[in-house]
Amino acid sequence: MRPFDDIDRLAAWPALDRIAAPARDLVNRVLTDRKVADVLHGVPIGHPLHPVLAQLTFGSFLSAGILDLVPRTRRPATALIGVGLLSAAPTAAAGWADYAQAHEEQQRVGIVHAAANITMLAGYVASLAARARGRGFRGALWGWAALAVGSAGAALGGHLSYHQSLGPNHAEPYAHIGPEDWVDVGAVAELPEGTPVQRTTGDVGVVVVRRGDEVLALGERCPHASAPLSDGELTTADGAECVVCPWHGSVFRLTDGGVVHGPATAPAAVFPTRVRDGRLELRVATWPGVPAG
Ligand code: FES
Repeated sequence: MRPFDDIDRLAAWPALDRIAAPARDLVNRVLTDRKVADVLHGVPIGHPLHPVLAQLTFGSFLSAGILDLVPRTRRPATALIGVGLLSAAPTAAAGWADYAQAHEEQQRVGIVHAAANITMLAGYVASLAARARGRGFRGALWGWAALAVGSAGAALGGHLSYHQSLGPNHAEPYAHIGPEDWVDVGAVAELPEGTPVQRTTGDVGVVVVRRGDEVLALGERCPHASAPLSDGELTTADGAECVVCPWHGSVFRLTDGGVVHGPATAPAAVFPTRVRDGRLELRVATWPGVPAG
């Protein structure tokens, strides 16, 4: 048994749902402002925000732990613990926002990740309290203990991202597996007007929308967690026609796949279209969000 296989046991442990599900519901009740949710997911920066902030938080704690090993560096170590604790609030908020839009197995691991991080933060509060009382060595001991727990939490976070795919761009493979040359996908006249439909081009699925003579196409799978966008509904946002993901409500512009609302932070894959003799042809854009023309 490899050590990280045990994390998969957490993902398959339904008993965790007794905590994970109420936590998810609580976040969804609190996080009702869509603009705030978009910021926490990382939509404005086009990248998940939580791992960016986590670098500051955990990096500060890790640096403090190293400085506590070096003579006469306890004050800068204490300052770094303060930075870590201050940055923990936005880091946690971004993490909880992502957690609330994850699937069940991810939430089981996510709730243990959160528990480890909360324990770590309590340890650093104890560390600061000891330092404030002039007990620097005891503060360092608290810090190292907290760092050990936080490292376990960080490993769970890495597993969530790299193994359970919470956060990565699920539309990225399209640029590599979609057809580079034009591929016939059927008669334009057979496409319903103004309704997303699924078609296949090469080895990949696409969602196609016809508006009169214009046909727009995106990769079928949502960049957030691979939901089928052809099951989504059309809407208008910021003056552009968009498709709404059926699972967690991300909104993508049909023209360029751009993210209007998260939780997705990466654009949907774009498939430029052309019509020849009444037949629709598609090919994949060289990079998601950058039409090949
Ligand atoms: S799969 Fe989550 S928003 Fe699309």
